[in-house]
Amino acid sequence: MASGRSFFVTTPIFYVNDVPHIGHAYTEVAADVVARWHRQAGDDTWLLTGTDEHGQKILRTATANGATPQEWADRLVESAWKPLLNTISISNDDFIRTTEERHEVNVQKFLTTLYDAGFIYTGEYEGAYCVGCEEYKQPSDLVNGAGEYDGQQVCAIHSKPVETLHEKNYFFRMSDFQQQLLDLYEQRPEFVQPESARNEVIQFVKQGLDDLSISRSTFDWGIKLPWDDTHVVYVWFDALLNYITAVGYGYDEAQFSSRWPATHLVGKDILRFHAVIWPAMLMAAGVEVPHQVFGHGWLLVGGEKMSKSKLTGIAPNDITDTFGSDAFRYYFMSAISFGQDGSFSWEDLSARYQAELANGFGNLASRALAMVAKYFESVVPTPSEYTPEDRAIIDVVAAAALQADAAIERVAINEAIAEIWTIVDALNGYITDMQPWALAKEEAQRERLATVLYVVVEGIRALTVLLSPVMPHATNVLWNALGVGGSLGSLEQQPIREAGQWGQLAPGTGIGALEPLFPRIETPE
Ligand code: MSP
Repeated sequence: MASGRSFFVTTPIFYVNDVPHIGHAYTEVAADVVARWHRQAGDDTWLLTGTDEHGQKILRTATANGATPQEWADRLVESAWKPLLNTISISNDDFIRTTEERHEVNVQKFLTTLYDAGFIYTGEYEGAYCVGCEEYKQPSDLVNGAGEYDGQQVCAIHSKPVETLHEKNYFFRMSDFQQQLLDLYEQRPEFVQPESARNEVIQFVKQGLDDLSISRSTFDWGIKLPWDDTHVVYVWFDALLNYITAVGYGYDEAQFSSRWPATHLVGKDILRFHAVIWPAMLMAAGVEVPHQVFGHGWLLVGGEKMSKSKLTGIAPNDITDTFGSDAFRYYFMSAISFGQDGSFSWEDLSARYQAELANGFGNLASRALAMVAKYFESVVPTPSEYTPEDRAIIDVVAAAALQADAAIERVAINEAIAEIWTIVDALNGYITDMQPWALAKEEAQRERLATVLYVVVEGIRALTVLLSPVMPHATNVLWNALGVGGSLGSLEQQPIREAGQWGQLAPGTGIGALEPLFPRIETPE
C-alpha cells in the first residue's frame, strides 16, 4: 500500500504533570484522522505522538507527590497517556518519550552542532517566567489577576502569577533568523496555517526577535548541555527536537530522509514555539524546516480554554464510556471548525449523536441493509438503467470523495466530513423520494427496485470507506455487514482517493445483518 508520497504528521508531546483531558485528545484525534486518511490513500504515512517529561513543571509535580521525576513520568505514561491512545482509537506508528536515550543523545548532538557553528553564547537574563507554560513572558503576555490573585499580574493562559527569574544562561542566536523566517512565511504561505495563525506569527516576528535562553542551572531535571554539565537544556528546546530524534536524526540517516519534513498539528497556545523557534533552530543546524505547522483552536468550557488547572478538564473516557470512541471522534472533528475555538457541551454532543449518527448515518445503513434482506434475500441486486435521480447520487458520491480529499489536504477536517455527509443526506432524501417500500408492492417495478437499492448500498459502500478514518469501529462493522471483504478486501485496503468511483460493489454479494451502529443512549432524567 505504501507506494505513494511520504506523509509524516505529529501531535505535540504532552506534559506528564497531569492526566489527559479532552483538549489533549482533540489534537490526537485530528492527527489520527489525517494520518488514517493518508495511510488509506497509499501514502507512506507516519503518525508520531509522545510525552514531554523534563522541566520544572514535571519536577515540581513529582516532588509534591513524593516521587522522583522519572518515577512520576513512568507512572503517568503507563497509567494515563498510553491508555488514552486506546480510549480514542489512535493509530500512532511511534510514541516518543523525551527521557529515552534515542532522544537525549541526539538532542546533545544537535546542540553540539549549534555550539560549534557559533550560534550559542553565554548571557544573563531576568524575566517573568510562567512554569505552567515553561516560558519567559513579555509584559504584554500578562493580565490582571482575579480572585486570590487580585492586584497581581498573571499569565493570560494559566491565570496564575509568574515568577521573576534571574539567571546566567546559554543563549541561542535566534535573532539572526528574523529575516529568513519572514522570507519563509512569505515564500511558503502553507508553512503556517490557518491564515489567522500565519498573520499572527508574521506580526510577532516583524516586531523583532530576541535571542532565546536555552539552558537552566537552578535544577537538573533535563538533558545536560554537552559542553557544560552544570546546565540542563530548556525544556521547549528539548521537546521540539522530538520531531526529528524520533525519526532517526543523528542515528539513522535513511529513515530521517524518508520521513522528514513533518506536518505539525498544535494548539494555538504553542504556535510560536513551532512556527518561530523551531524553524530557527533547524535553520541554524542546517536541517530542512517542517512542511507545515497547523494551529488549531481551543475547546472552551464556559467561554474559557478548558484546562485541568482551572478545574474545567473533562476526561476523554467520561465521554467514550457512554458514547463510544467513534462518536467522540466524529463529534469533535465535525462540530468545530479545525483552526477555530469551539465550545463543548454535553447537550450538543447528545443532540448530534442522536440526529447525525443514530438517525442520519446509522439509520440509513440499517434501513438499507434491511431492505436488501427483505426484498432480495440479502443479495445485492443488479441495477438496470439509471435515471437522472440515480445519476444525481452517483455525482454526489464522486464530488464528495474528491472534495473531502482536497479538504484533508488543507487540514480542514470538519469540511471533509461535511462533504462526506452530503452522501448521507442525499441517500436519505433519495430513499424518501424513491419509496422502495412502494416499489416493492408492484411486481412490474422489480427492476426499478433493484436499481434503487443498488444505488443505496453502493452509495453506502463509498460512505463507509470515506468515513473510516473518522469512525474506524462503526465503519468496520458496516463493512463486514456489507459482505464485500471477499471481493474488495478489508476496509483498510480500500484506496480512499478512489472511493468515489461508482460500481465497486458487485451485484450478487451476500450481505449480513447489522446491529444498530449507534445505539440509543439512555440519559438519566
Ligand atoms: N509539552 C508541550 C508541547 C511540546 S511539543 C514539542 C505542551 N503540552 S500540553 O500537554 O500542555 O499540551 C499539548 C496540546 O494540548 C497542545 O497542542 C495544546 O494546545 C492542547 N490543548 C490543551 N488544552 C486544550 C484545549 N482546551 N483545547 C484544545 N487543545 C488544548 O504544550
